[in-house]
Amino acid sequence: MCGIVGYVGPRPATAIIVEGLRRLEYRGYDSAGLAVIENECICVRRDVGKLSALDELLAEQPVHGHIGIGHTRWATHGRPSQRNAHPHTDCSGEIVVIHNGIVENFLALRQELQALGHVLASDTDTEVIVHLVEEYMKDGSSLEAAARQTLGRIKGAHGVVLLSSREPDKLIVARIGNAGGVVIGVGQGEMFVASDMPAILEHTRDMIFLEDGQMAVITADGARCSTLAGEPLQLEEVTVPWDPVSAAKGEHKHFMQKEILEQARSITDTIRGRVNFETGDVHLKDLNLPLEMARRFNKMVIVACGTSAYSGLVGKFLIEALARLPVEVDYGSEFRYRDPIIDERTLVLAITQSGETVDTLAALEEARAKGARLISIVNVIGSQAARVADGVIYMQAGPEIGVASTKAFTASVVDQYLLGLYLGKARGTLSPARLRELVDDLAELPNLVGQVLANGVEYQRLADLFFKRQNFLYLGRGINYPIALEGALKLKEISYIHAEGYPAGEMKHGPIALIDETMPTVAIAVRDHVYDKMVSQIEQVKSRGGTVLVVATEGDEAIAAKADHVLYIPSASPLLTPVLAVLPLQLFAYHVAVRRGCDVDQPRNLAKSVTVE
Ligand code: F6R
Repeated sequence: MCGIVGYVGPRPATAIIVEGLRRLEYRGYDSAGLAVIENECICVRRDVGKLSALDELLAEQPVHGHIGIGHTRWATHGRPSQRNAHPHTDCSGEIVVIHNGIVENFLALRQELQALGHVLASDTDTEVIVHLVEEYMKDGSSLEAAARQTLGRIKGAHGVVLLSSREPDKLIVARIGNAGGVVIGVGQGEMFVASDMPAILEHTRDMIFLEDGQMAVITADGARCSTLAGEPLQLEEVTVPWDPVSAAKGEHKHFMQKEILEQARSITDTIRGRVNFETGDVHLKDLNLPLEMARRFNKMVIVACGTSAYSGLVGKFLIEALARLPVEVDYGSEFRYRDPIIDERTLVLAITQSGETVDTLAALEEARAKGARLISIVNVIGSQAARVADGVIYMQAGPEIGVASTKAFTASVVDQYLLGLYLGKARGTLSPARLRELVDDLAELPNLVGQVLANGVEYQRLADLFFKRQNFLYLGRGINYPIALEGALKLKEISYIHAEGYPAGEMKHGPIALIDETMPTVAIAVRDHVYDKMVSQIEQVKSRGGTVLVVATEGDEAIAAKADHVLYIPSASPLLTPVLAVLPLQLFAYHVAVRRGCDVDQPRNLAKSVTVE
């Protein structure tokens, strides 16, 4: 969950590292630090809190050098404090480490090191790594050899970067398991390291991705890659398409705002080049699922976490409707522990924006072990979920920096619509005429999304009215039930208001007891086959003194008489309404959080990429 950046080359390292960290701050941000080699010595600067604290420290105590590493921390072991911030040094102060992951056997290693006379200065698990390296270098071993020995001793999943003033021209990087990505950026006479590409995209688009069990020795001239055991590897260099401009905030106050507002574009990109609007054929380049193979499945299981899991719940409706294939949806964290019933006739789909969520990756591993075919819908190119699956659909949403997922949600829903069309064609559940209708509906979507997003002022007004409320109930039904869950999640994670999402029909079985004049209800009541049922739920809330905000279909005047506030979305095919219905809920959550003065892009306790269990 932590952010990692490293640099070696002719330019001043500090500025490159700090800028890289700024682009990664969204991953974890209870402290930040860096280490740079200046005059043959390791100089460490680190502080608790946001990157601005490190900026201030560096202004008072600058460091100059051409090789260094930096880190933003999301605490696991040891509370956020200056001494627990990375980088961590060994006893001599000549070796330094940054790390993402959890050293599961750190207590035993700590005791062992203390018995050998090492003084550990923090409460972190990470620090044992650098002291072990120090220990293994005592017999004259190189940094690389000591790193190998150390990495062989630590349990768990890790991304690790080491630097030593004893060998001041190199960085050692390694990846063990799925604690997040480790990407090496290849420049002209300079090299970069990062946990995520946005940190270094400004400098290079040529990347090498380390897999589980791989490491690299990086100098300004290049990367020498190998397995942890020392077997040399020729890893492919990939040129990634994202540009740094699309990862910048531009004129927007927050990344989340920018990402909400760019959904017409991200959905266009998601569709672009994948659909033949004349024949209705869908082409998913990297899916790697020939039509004959697509016919053989008798069930599909979607595994994901958080917002991606809610996207999967929408996907269940889409794929069952379009391809008539039964779909189960499970949280990655549950799936891996429930001995799921799957086999080679099961298609398992992982949905993950980051592609690095540890629970989702573990679910994929479980599914692999049981013989299922694995596909993933992923935003981050080259991420682990893309690499371990047999096929992948890239979201094409572009970098999502705000911690609260928005454009990745809608992109992944559209991807599942495309997948449903593809499977429907393969399984013969969609006639050519129906396929063409369905792709025509899709073609209209970006324009409809743009219409909803054009109306920002209304949401500011609503935020003024509601920002002081403490509890919200979100209700939806059918394919829009997951949208109620997602709307509630958006509000709670960025504004810290308690919000519950419920399938509307369940309200009378419990949540109705909560309704009074202090608890607003947000209902999704678009014109579809459950519209009348939704209207009757709204009436039940109103008759108990509740306030209702409703997401409704444009032109539905009748609903305005029943609800207190109406957020209109254009009429669309019922299968695509979730993509439109979620937009007012994203905007509402955003404006409420802004009105409450919350840190919208970096909400407390959350991280963009959840690489711990
Ligand atoms: C909520 C949010 C999280 C993520 C979840 C899974 O706004 O962003 O709930 O959706 O942590 O992340 P990915 O999709 O990266 O696997």
